[in-house]
Amino acid sequence: MTSSLNGRRVLVTGAAGRIGLVTTRHLTELGALVTAMELVEHDELKADRIVIGDTRSEDDVAKALDGVDTVVHLAALAHPSAGTPYEVYTTNVVSTFNVLAQAGAAGIKRAVVASSINAFGVPFNPADIRPAYYPLDEKIPADVADWYSLSKQNDENTCRMAWRRWGIDVVAFRFPHVNSAEVLERVANGFVEDPAPGVREGWSYLDTRDAAYAIELGLTAKLSGAHVFFAAASTTNAPYETEALLDKYAPGVPRLRRFVGREVPIDLTAIRTVLGFQARHELDLPTKTLET
Ligand SMILES: NC(=O)c1ccc[n+]([C@@H]2O[C@H](COP(=O)([O-])OP(=O)(O)OC[C@H]3O[C@@H](n4cnc5c(N)ncnc54)[C@H](O)[C@@H]3O)[C@@H](O)[C@H]2O)c1
Repeated sequence: MTSSLNGRRVLVTGAAGRIGLVTTRHLTELGALVTAMELVEHDELKADRIVIGDTRSEDDVAKALDGVDTVVHLAALAHPSAGTPYEVYTTNVVSTFNVLAQAGAAGIKRAVVASSINAFGVPFNPADIRPAYYPLDEKIPADVADWYSLSKQNDENTCRMAWRRWGIDVVAFRFPHVNSAEVLERVANGFVEDPAPGVREGWSYLDTRDAAYAIELGLTAKLSGAHVFFAAASTTNAPYETEALLDKYAPGVPRLRRFVGREVPIDLTAIRTVLGFQARHELDLPTKTLET
């Protein structure tokens, strides 16, 4: 079946990044004419049009948006340590504001934005805290103590503002760790010995190809408004039953329901029902018995 993206002009910012390269390739395979925006040239980046520029610059973003129908905004400093606190926070919030405000004012009708599981602040929090409850969902209380998480929380507000102001529909994804199958398998192997580091993200993960697929659905789904969705594989990246993991590593945290097998303790109802998303590349791990 021909994709509704066939022949559409899509701007992808951060197009040479980990998610950007795979997304640019995926959208191109669906027939989209991708304008790829990046800070510097990159050998692997192939697109209909490449704009070298900075998403913080009004002029560069105006140039990149020229003739574009929809936007995928991925450019960011993607970790608290990717720059100074000032650089990480300002790059992310200024870029998201700049891209969405210009896209909205230009009459563009749809944007997809990379938020992060870190928008709720707990995974990078230096305090020894746990989520307020499991499964994590889009309404979970935030406890933010770092500039990267704050930038993503702010980006979600920018998405809502842009829709309210200009009527641009925006889909923001709270991605967990997104990576290639090889890297995800390495992380999973590390959790055989010690699953503790995964507790605050609910041992969640997403294959980069599934991030690109979620982005496709975010661009094409029939919806209006500004939406935030957790996007994750339906299973965990730890080879133990989720209930046993939570008993051991988050014993005091309320569970709003029981989890079956290696079910990820994230509520994926919203992305399933609104976008029809189900991950297509999941880790095939044996389920072992966790020592108590
Ligand atoms: N990969 C993950 O695990 C993950 C998880 C949650 C959220 N995210 C979010 O998804 C998005 C993409 O992440 P990624 O893993 O591909 O990161 P990445 O660092 O691999 O790619 C980001 C790209 O953005 C570009 N960029 C940075 N600042 C820019 C600027 N000022 N102007 C133009 N381009 C700029 C970089 O050159 C880079 O190519 C980011 O917003 C990130 O915060 C990623």
